Amino acid sequence: MSNTILIGAQWGDEGKGKIIDVLTERVDWVVRPQGGNNAGHTVEIGEERFVLHLVPSGILTPGKRCVIGNGVVLDPVALVEEIKGVTGRGLSVEGRLFISDRAHVVFPYHRMLDAQGEARRAKGDQIGTTMRGIGPAYGDKAARFGLRMCDLVDPEFPALLRARVEEKNRILAAMGAPVVVYDEILAATQKAMEVLRPLVCDTVSLLHAAVGRGESLLFEGAQGIMLDIDFGTYPYVTSSNASSGGASTGSGVPPSRIDHVVGVLKAYTTRVGEGPFPTELLDATGEELRRVGREFGATTGRPRRCGWFDAVVARHAVMTCGVDEWALTKLDVFDGFETLKICVAYDLDGRRIEHFPANIREAARCKPVYEDMPGWRSSTRDILRYGDLPAAAKRYIARLEQVTGVPVGILSLGPRRESTLVLGEKDA
Ligand code: IMP
Repeated sequence: MSNTILIGAQWGDEGKGKIIDVLTERVDWVVRPQGGNNAGHTVEIGEERFVLHLVPSGILTPGKRCVIGNGVVLDPVALVEEIKGVTGRGLSVEGRLFISDRAHVVFPYHRMLDAQGEARRAKGDQIGTTMRGIGPAYGDKAARFGLRMCDLVDPEFPALLRARVEEKNRILAAMGAPVVVYDEILAATQKAMEVLRPLVCDTVSLLHAAVGRGESLLFEGAQGIMLDIDFGTYPYVTSSNASSGGASTGSGVPPSRIDHVVGVLKAYTTRVGEGPFPTELLDATGEELRRVGREFGATTGRPRRCGWFDAVVARHAVMTCGVDEWALTKLDVFDGFETLKICVAYDLDGRRIEHFPANIREAARCKPVYEDMPGWRSSTRDILRYGDLPAAAKRYIARLEQVTGVPVGILSLGPRRESTLVLGEKDA
């Protein structure tokens, strides 16, 4: 297999963890290029359920090697906890997990500033962040005030940290917020580094060498295109590039070395946090999707907002990420539904539009233009062949392919590894 990027094609929570787990079988390396522990990638293996936030899901497949790339912002204390969870299950990280020396670090003052930022916004203007300090950490990166993993392994780290803590405490004090304690942060970080130090290296050279040897890479995108800092519903977005371009800038592997993009798409749409969501259902159908699809955040436990499938959003992912095939997840959630709807365009102030507007005030006024599709009212849970799907389910998939212009290559009909169909020709 070649080098592949996997991206979320909606607002995150598309079921990427499970698809990555399945695709991992085919590759040598899994690389996480962006985001932080705001992500929650869930994988169910047998009776066990794993939720990974920073460590690439590939760690669950013995023998595969994983990289946390330079584009990630990394909370060292949270990462150590996660590593303990992995090793506690008998999986080793030694020689399998590598952390970029260029990855930026999330400190407690970033989390504090995240909380303050949300609290200080006017009611209704909150982003609904995961409170993991992601925005402030990327802010420091852009402002050239951040600390990176290479700084944490440097003898000058205490002095570098002191300068940051003093500056951040001035800001926190001016806000009337609690300040952070330098000694505590230093001690906690140094303790975490006892575990992380051996894993920190130049992952750019490491990946370059792997590609040179003909080994294959899978880039594990976090969040989704509509949360991308450039192409999402700004400002209701995360602070990194969740689009396919983020895979290159977040790993140092150039675009010319990457040849395939898989978009993960849920059969309906969900979003956590605030911001426009044209197909959102605030009625019993939305409730039903949330209940049947178990739509509660893997990181924060928050109930997810739910709505019908939105082809405008999917086409936005196709344009900005170059999606070659879809991995369609959670189609089984529709098993009990009489009628399904697909949004094919929007009505904006009486005008039909086919693209997602940049202006969120316009996005909030967009009314979905729906097509009705019949449901199938039978279980698809244990189906192992595409040909065994109910005819109405095949029609739903075919229509989705038509309105997005991209074929469905992988179909997921349940949370477990086994309930994933890798499709060839679909005329069976
Ligand atoms: P932040 O990334 O914590 O700053 O949150 C910004 C927005 O992105 C909020 O609406 C979050 O709910 C959303 N978000 C961040 N990470 C994820 C994710 O992994 N899945 C879904 N939503 C996310």
